[in-house]
Amino acid sequence: MIFGDIRCPERAGLPSPLLAALTLALKADPQRCEPGRHALQGEDIFMNVMQFMTQPAHAKRAELHAEYIDVQILLAGEERIEFGLADSARQCDEWHHEDDYQLCDEIAGQQSVTLQAGMFAVFFPGEPHKPGIQGETPAGIKKAVVKVHRKLLDR
Ligand code: CU
Repeated sequence: MIFGDIRCPERAGLPSPLLAALTLALKADPQRCEPGRHALQGEDIFMNVMQFMTQPAHAKRAELHAEYIDVQILLAGEERIEFGLADSARQCDEWHHEDDYQLCDEIAGQQSVTLQAGMFAVFFPGEPHKPGIQGETPAGIKKAVVKVHRKLLDR
């Protein structure tokens, strides 16, 4: 997990292919994008824009991916994300390989980060994450999840 601010993404210490992907996504102006999938670079980089109400942690499940890195950008509101190190997912369902995700009910040694609008958090393959958790009360958020295929980091 790496986190940073979209106003100075170069300061977050991202590997350069990830910084390039984030820069590409920000150029597409996600703040003005309608919810849905937005193509950026074929199947290698795309962006899911979403708008929803945060919920209590117990109402949500953690997810992890095998092929894609998530760059989760919070555009509006406040959001807490629970997460863990690679291979810390426990009580997992079966993999959905077509859609590149697995759900789990527990994260061993769980950590938590609270994003304010303009912050982003990066989750690498195998790192479970449970986004969209409320603070005191549910609130509306808008976010963009930039999906970056892991092979871009292997070059
Ligand atoms: Cu994810």
